[in-house]
Amino acid sequence: MTNNPLLIVVLAAGKGERMRSAVPKVLHRIGGRSMLAHALACGRAAGADKLALVIAPGMAAVRAEAEKAAPRIEIFEQADQAGTGDAALAARPALERHRGDVVVLFADTPLMRPATLRRLVGALESGAQVAVLGFEPDDATGYGRLILDGDGRVSTIREHRDASEGERKIGLCNAGAMAFRVPDLARLLARIGKANAKGEYYLTDAVAIACSDGLAVLPVVCSVEEAMGVNSREQLAEAEAVFQQRARRKAMEQGATLVAPETVWLSFDTVIGRDVTIEPNVFLGPGVTIEDGAEILANCHMVGARVRKGARVGPFARFRPGADIGDGAHIGNFVEVKNATVETNAKANHLSYIGDGRVGEGANIGAGTIFCNYDGFNKGFTDIGKGAFIGSNSSLVAPVKVGDGAYIGSGSVISKDVAPDALALERSSQEERPGWAAKFRARMGRRRKIGSEGS
Ligand code: UD1
Ligand code: MG
Repeated sequence: MTNNPLLIVVLAAGKGERMRSAVPKVLHRIGGRSMLAHALACGRAAGADKLALVIAPGMAAVRAEAEKAAPRIEIFEQADQAGTGDAALAARPALERHRGDVVVLFADTPLMRPATLRRLVGALESGAQVAVLGFEPDDATGYGRLILDGDGRVSTIREHRDASEGERKIGLCNAGAMAFRVPDLARLLARIGKANAKGEYYLTDAVAIACSDGLAVLPVVCSVEEAMGVNSREQLAEAEAVFQQRARRKAMEQGATLVAPETVWLSFDTVIGRDVTIEPNVFLGPGVTIEDGAEILANCHMVGARVRKGARVGPFARFRPGADIGDGAHIGNFVEVKNATVETNAKANHLSYIGDGRVGEGANIGAGTIFCNYDGFNKGFTDIGKGAFIGSNSSLVAPVKVGDGAYIGSGSVISKDVAPDALALERSSQEERPGWAAKFRARMGRRRKIGSEGS
């Protein structure tokens, strides 16, 4: 690693036409996070002192996403999408101001690791003025090929479209990250022309220009998965698969049991503790934490939720943002929790909706209980006290409070607060007619007999 200040310029202005999407390519997600945010996070973790981003005019959503991911980022607009070389030059003010090393990175390679970028920058310490990240994909179609000279230096990068049959046989490709220790990089980039198959300014042509100036351009090789470029939906799915493999491996390395890892879906920020067990077919979207010893049974779906120590969840539980399941709590099948705290050892084992509320420590929520939190205009809060018992098939009409230790009779519609330790019932009383059923059956039996004799 070097002590030179590092500027990382991320290119994201491309149209991404091969995605066939109304959404800019770099906002498509891998592991629940945009490719752009992955690239910026990688740049930051690799030690960037400054980040710059190049977008196209009118890409308001891309700008907003960048500012969210990296608040101090400097954003430039590339007027026409005339190629990656032109895009890098769009950041000219930042390049001219900067004294130090520069990395230009593409926003459509979301699996790049920070350590790899550091290795790329590190090559500038061992004699390179330019370092190009290379990789050897199984199928090199579409990638630029690194053409090496006899000394193993890169003399040219030839884009796939411009390459001859012979050059297309070269396995070593451009991964989409280049590091420069060039005093006036903007001036070098300004010499890139567009005499090529696409009629675009290729950043990759900076290599041949640097060579003709006598600068040393060295390759740094990384793994295939890190360099995967996403240009189509198919590649997006392939990158997602790699992301998931990495995330599952990490969860297992940190002490979780994934019974069928290939069926568990994780996000970029998923936190999974030790001795957690996750059964098959579980989806964990962004913002989920599963603490030590918790058990997630099959077929659960969670976003923005916390499952605390030793809790047992599922099968078929759904947690939406703000679900907070306490230590040792049990949430069973077909229970949905949203913006609600279920405290230590509380239970909701079957078929319930718990939204905008609190379930106190050790309380029991019976089957079919619904928190009626929404009247079409406002959301109300339901507060269930410690040790309360909510009978099955009850509706709790918020805002409402059930005191500690209170009982709610099954089938009640509770719209008024209930005092601690009271019983609240809201249903008509039961009527019983002794012997009625036997008489009914006898009468019906006689009728049937008369009917069949007549036919
Ligand atoms: C590029 C490289 C290729 C490399 C591959 C790796 C060039 C000419 N080619 O090809 O050598 O193997 O990436 O994945 O650099 N962009 C702009 N403005 C533009 C055009 C592109 O900002 O005018 C941005 C895009 O948003 C994208 C990145 O630059 O993030 C790369 O562009 P893309 O069109 O995907 O280039 P590739 O054809 O993949
Ligand atoms: Mg690309």
